[in-house]
Amino acid sequence: MAFNRTLITAALPYANGPVHIGHLAGVYIPADIYARYLRLKGKEVMFVCGSDEHGVPVTIRARKEGITTQQVVDRYHELIKRSFAEFGVSFDIYSRTTSPTHHQFAADYFRKMYEDGQFVEETSEQFYDPETGHFLTDRNIRGECPRCHSLGAYGDQCEKCGATLSPDELINPYNAETGNPLAKKATKHWYLPLDQYQAWLEDWILNNHKEWRPNVYGQCKSWLDGGLKPRAVTRDLDWGIPVPVEGAEGKVLYVWFDAPIGYISNTIELCRQQPEKYGDWQKWWKDKDTRMIHFIGKDNIVFHCIVFPAMLKAQGYNLPDNVPSNEFLNLEGDKISTSRNWAVWLNEYLDDFPGKQDVLRYVLTANAPETKDNDFTWADFQARNNNELVAIYGNFINRALVLTGKYFEGRVPACGEMTDYDKEVIAQITSYKSQIESLLDAFRFRDAQKEAMNLARIGNKYLADTEPWKLAKTDMNRTSTVLHIALQIAANLAIAFEPFLPFSSEKLKNMLQLGATIGWNELGRMDILPEGQQLGEVSLLFEKIEDSAIKHQLDRLERIKTENEAAAKAEALKNWRPEPVKEPTTIDDFDKMDIRVATVLECTNVKKSDRLLQFKLDDGMGGRTILSGIAQSYPDPSVLIGKQVLFIANFPPRKMMGIESQGMILSAVDADGRLIVVTPSSPAHPGAAVG
Ligand code: MF3
Ligand code: ZN
Repeated sequence: MAFNRTLITAALPYANGPVHIGHLAGVYIPADIYARYLRLKGKEVMFVCGSDEHGVPVTIRARKEGITTQQVVDRYHELIKRSFAEFGVSFDIYSRTTSPTHHQFAADYFRKMYEDGQFVEETSEQFYDPETGHFLTDRNIRGECPRCHSLGAYGDQCEKCGATLSPDELINPYNAETGNPLAKKATKHWYLPLDQYQAWLEDWILNNHKEWRPNVYGQCKSWLDGGLKPRAVTRDLDWGIPVPVEGAEGKVLYVWFDAPIGYISNTIELCRQQPEKYGDWQKWWKDKDTRMIHFIGKDNIVFHCIVFPAMLKAQGYNLPDNVPSNEFLNLEGDKISTSRNWAVWLNEYLDDFPGKQDVLRYVLTANAPETKDNDFTWADFQARNNNELVAIYGNFINRALVLTGKYFEGRVPACGEMTDYDKEVIAQITSYKSQIESLLDAFRFRDAQKEAMNLARIGNKYLADTEPWKLAKTDMNRTSTVLHIALQIAANLAIAFEPFLPFSSEKLKNMLQLGATIGWNELGRMDILPEGQQLGEVSLLFEKIEDSAIKHQLDRLERIKTENEAAAKAEALKNWRPEPVKEPTTIDDFDKMDIRVATVLECTNVKKSDRLLQFKLDDGMGGRTILSGIAQSYPDPSVLIGKQVLFIANFPPRKMMGIESQGMILSAVDADGRLIVVTPSSPAHPGAAVG
């Protein structure tokens, strides 16, 4: 690690809702681990974040909640900021893109690029709502997905099948807010000509950043292989930073243009607040010996690896050294979604598990989606807490400290002569520093934390093997040595876990009375605690989580699932249109079908089929049996007994599930997919023909 100064950025979360475990796992915990690690090493670090308050998501939220956009961003900015602080995410600044500094700086950035001729202007046809007169952004356009044909796909993505879409691909696009069908209209915008950066980006990323994570490198490569096209950096909206050039009335900067500039604006704000500590902001963005690391989620890769670097390059700023992006975290097997409330919200988590920030931090890092999507389950959460934090780390610390209290009045006992086994254990401990460091340096937080836990395992095993509670009866010298070594291991754990579990490390450091000067550089040493040092008060580092607490969480998710299913159904119904009329035909075709009336004598479920109902009909011609695939629509088939139905009498018989079906019963397919048996408006004789 030759560098000294590192600027760490974490993606600016949209201020359109509280933050959830997906945010923490994907971006903020890894970024925080890294920032804490570098600070512990004594490096010069700036860790920058803030709320992303422009863009469509916040305006949608405002309309949904019936409040103004400003009220939305005010509310969620505060909530998000508090959640991050509560979880120990150690930003040096958490500002917001509605700040005056940012508005000014982002507008200036645009103006400079404009004046330097770094945009192209183009007029194009865009979707707009003829009734409201508003242009629509991709997120505000919904319609039928061209891939899976589910209704209600967004203009940029189908949440059902995950396809990335453009609004032009949607079938029957409509305004998500008003439901109005859309038209197109010409409008002028400014484009960042990414095609002009193609060759440079290929060289910069594909040749010079082969060390980037495979998921990041791979996504960049596929964008580059596809050929970059100019991207509009302005939008027709009334929420955002006004485009600061002439002829741009009613237009604002595209949120993905202004938000990443927020990293710079927030740096400027921090440097203005604390000039002695951080110096001139330009040194963080233009000095060649400042390294920049962007922590993001995978849906942000193209913006941080291609679009923003092109903007930075255009104006002579530093480029990121690495962009460690995570994949996604799912929740109990389903995609986390703010709009579907399928998430564990940080504020709610703390209501249910007060003081247990580190447990969540631990589990999210242990399961971090570093190389592939991963799943958060409450069962795993409980198991990792009970079997790892409590049973290994907590148990070891508790034993070492309680025994020291019991036999040595809470003072670090002397280290006597060491056995070969002691020396072996110590050799293992001292090798951990470089091991954990090389993992952290490579952004492999999951494995790094695993090593820290292995260190605790060694300690736990050491006490289990040496059994100082038995030794104390016969050999106080040996007991003293064993506990001395155990306490040094405990001190090592306080340091090794500090980037991951800051609250527990703080607590443990207090119990060990470790001074503030103890940092990462002491890791691996076996003389951190001087003999005779008085330890602090002992308390449990972690507590068992009971089944009832887990059940409470699972019940909540079950409730949300039921609500979501009902809402999805309602949404589909709202947008239902009758199927288009079929090709023209003639009465001759119709006449070939022999449709008759019959009375239902019996109606039962077919065994082993959840689809089929078996009808026994009085058809006026001696009776017949017909199978019909409508069981889902009739949970109680007996309601059909005595009703009259229409059926096609001249289909050839067909065997299903070992039963012969002699015809087809006519049903209407309702908007929600339910099948409704068609019945004559007044009773007719069984066998009567329909025509
Ligand atoms: N708000 C965006 C998201 O949540 C991230 C913006 S990152 C920034 O996906 F670089 F633009 F700030
Ligand atoms: Zn789809």
